[in-house]
Amino acid sequence: MVKRSYWLVLALFGLALCGAAFVFWYTTYAHNGAEEDAVFAVKHGDVDEPITPIPRDLKLDKRKVALGRRLFHDPQLSGDSRISCAHCHNLATGGVDGLAHPVGSSKTDGKIDTLTVFNSGFNFRLFWDGRAATLEDQIDFPMNNPCEMGSTWDEVIAKLGNDKAYRRDFADIYKENINPQTVRDAIATFERSLNTPNSRFDRYLRGDKQALDSSELAGYDLFKSLGCISCHQGMNMGGNMYEKLGLVEDYFRNRGNLRKVDLGRYNLTKDEDDRYEFRVPSLRNVALTAPYLHDASASTLDAAVIIMGKYQLGVDLREEEVAKIVKFLNALTGEYDGKLLSAHQQSGAHR
Ligand code: HEC
Ligand code: HEC
Repeated sequence: MVKRSYWLVLALFGLALCGAAFVFWYTTYAHNGAEEDAVFAVKHGDVDEPITPIPRDLKLDKRKVALGRRLFHDPQLSGDSRISCAHCHNLATGGVDGLAHPVGSSKTDGKIDTLTVFNSGFNFRLFWDGRAATLEDQIDFPMNNPCEMGSTWDEVIAKLGNDKAYRRDFADIYKENINPQTVRDAIATFERSLNTPNSRFDRYLRGDKQALDSSELAGYDLFKSLGCISCHQGMNMGGNMYEKLGLVEDYFRNRGNLRKVDLGRYNLTKDEDDRYEFRVPSLRNVALTAPYLHDASASTLDAAVIIMGKYQLGVDLREEEVAKIVKFLNALTGEYDGKLLSAHQQSGAHR
């Protein structure tokens, strides 16, 4: 008798356990699995692209943006009060100077190609070698560089402090008034406002399938299938990793005349693995930022794309492939202040 009820209890207990296990499985796995699928379909349904559009609206303090804009255009930030940041970062064009090597305060030639300030707030580090971590930190470099502004903070703060309008506007925003930190904060906030949304490519990414024509689309397909996308990726199509120039073939041996700036990140880390490593540049507005590469050795986009094929991917791109990729790159030009950016004093597209 005792034995029979013992088995019955055990059997019932086993059944209950199985039931509980089933309910647990159904609610945690089967059910969630279906939900995950639905989320996946929404996320990847019609925008299954490795690049995301530049945001149209950034929440920034408008007073800081206006103050930073004035500072960015103010030659008082340079030692001889003749050169502003905008001197080399012309916002009427691509945020660059268009020169192979920038000419700064002391009229000594700078040694490296100018990077654009447009969309620079989206880059993970600043400069070709990534030596500045934030836009705030970045400012000290041009300010103190004799090839650029050739100035010191003491001089700058003294000059700005003599200006009534600056004293008033800084006091309105910052209780500390004018000091290096507040000047950096205002300029960096202004720079974060320099994003260029609404390129034709971004309109395509947002769902307007007519925004790119068939050869631009073919260029985008090549960009992905050849592997350009493995380095020029994310919202800025670059600016989020370091890579070696000459990954597949030795670029510098072929070019010759090695200079210190060619060593890239090695100059900072002294690590052999970092030799010739640069931050992958953003390709946003790239049609407007000639010449190309840190050494400004490519004067056209065609030339830059051919170099990329050969040294980064180990392929000799055919003429029509280069043409399609360059057409695609021309569709990356965005808007600033609601207007499509354009090239130096030119009306049409610029290669
Ligand atoms: C004489 C020309 C010149 C002047 C003046 C100048 N810059 Fe630059 N700027 C450059 C060059 C060249 C680079 C690239 C340097 C490098 O990577 O080593 C650069 C890079 C930058 C970058 C990095 C962009 C990126 O994506 O990494 C920012 C931001 C910038 N400058 C902002 C400024 C600000 C702010 C000022 C004024 C305080 C200024 N620049 C003044 C020439 C100039
Ligand atoms: C392995 C990574 C890698 C791949 C793959 C790659 N790039 Fe680059 N790209 C870079 C780096 C790094 C630079 C900067 C090199 C330098 O100047 O020192 C660069 C520079 C460029 C530039 C010049 C940008 C400027 O502002 O000067 C263009 C244009 C460009 N790449 C397009 C392409 C295209 C198109 C492809 C595919 C055919 C491609 N890249 C493949 C890493 C890569």
